[in-house]
Amino acid sequence: MKNTIEENNRRNFLKKCGISTVPFLLPTAAMHAMPWSENNNTDTAKNAETAVNFIYDGLELSPRQYLEVLTDIDQRKPLEHDFYGNGGSTKQLEEEFAKLTGKEKAMYLPTGTMANQLAIKLLNGNNTKVIVPDNSHVFRDEADASQSVHRLRLVPTGKDKPYFQLEDLKNTVKYIDKNEVFRSGLGTVVIENPIRRANGTAVPIETIKEVSAYCKKNGFKMHLDGARIHLASAFTNVSLKEYASYFDTVYVSLYKYLNANGGAMLCGDAAVIDQLSHQIKILGGTTFQNWNNTAIALHYLEGLTERLDQVVVTAKRLIDELNKIDGISISSIDNGTNIYMLKLATNISSAELAKKLYEEYNIRLRSGENDTMRFAVNESLLRRDVQEIINAWKNVMNQIRK
Ligand SMILES: Cc1ncc(COP(=O)(O)O)c(C=O)c1O
Repeated sequence: MKNTIEENNRRNFLKKCGISTVPFLLPTAAMHAMPWSENNNTDTAKNAETAVNFIYDGLELSPRQYLEVLTDIDQRKPLEHDFYGNGGSTKQLEEEFAKLTGKEKAMYLPTGTMANQLAIKLLNGNNTKVIVPDNSHVFRDEADASQSVHRLRLVPTGKDKPYFQLEDLKNTVKYIDKNEVFRSGLGTVVIENPIRRANGTAVPIETIKEVSAYCKKNGFKMHLDGARIHLASAFTNVSLKEYASYFDTVYVSLYKYLNANGGAMLCGDAAVIDQLSHQIKILGGTTFQNWNNTAIALHYLEGLTERLDQVVVTAKRLIDELNKIDGISISSIDNGTNIYMLKLATNISSAELAKKLYEEYNIRLRSGENDTMRFAVNESLLRRDVQEIINAWKNVMNQIRK
């Protein structure tokens, strides 16, 4: 009850203030919840069909849009539900992913964290150590699940680098061999590609090949955290199948650019994937129906490669043109994928730019406090004519340049 009263008071307060005064009254955290900023994705957003965002890896569908896409899919061919992951679009998506990665099998899991953790647990057998990139999601963002749930020890390598090289891996293996008396075994090596904590940097295919050959020779298994692997493929021209061929298991997210609400696919040999159902259940991750995620992911998977190829070409043209505008500098990252760095001249306010682009042109931009920010391209770029987007930027820049 108290919450409802507080919520009503807050709403009345915002209404009384009028939207234009709100940004000056709210702290920064609340600023990020304003319609033009990255954390807002409600149905109050402007025409979502034509929204272009330079924030996410995917479309960031609003709840209403999500329902509309599901309805549209259903009208074309009635959706079938799965039963604890068996049947319907979940089964179809698993078959698609097995084909795409060239692996024997693929399975749906509720999260990527679970997919990563179960992959390394199953690949590792009785070994206790796993070598992971120092800046990886597995090492830094999975709440020490390996250590606390699976009793594995993660050994990081490649500190302060976007990705580790073969030499780093060899040195880490040597260091373990030399400094530890009891041989408890190294089982698996993990690579993340593209790398989230390095603004989407792709690990060069040559590095992957070298590491893979070394691991094969030494009997280490390899797992790919490929949460956003299609983005790497689009920007490096290395197919998903080729990337996957260097790894025993591959995880791909269903909600980065496949636009589902959540979920993950883990692909690999039947010997590994067949053990997943039991493991997922033990962890409490077996969910009754998953079609609401897998139907959306399946829908956006179709034709994805072609659309992302188009994003690459369109982004190049867009960035070339935006760089001609006084006060804007967009640069790529070494071995980069869909994330660029946008730097604004000191007379341009990023907050003002983001606000006007959103309010006047339905274009969403990350509005940081400093003048350099990440600028991500994704499928939403294809929703409008690129010249229209370029003109919008030109008009707004002319208005706000001091
Ligand atoms: C590189 C990478 N791996 C794994 C994950 C984990 O995915 P989930 O949120 O489904 O657990 C993420 C999520 O952000 C990620 O970026």
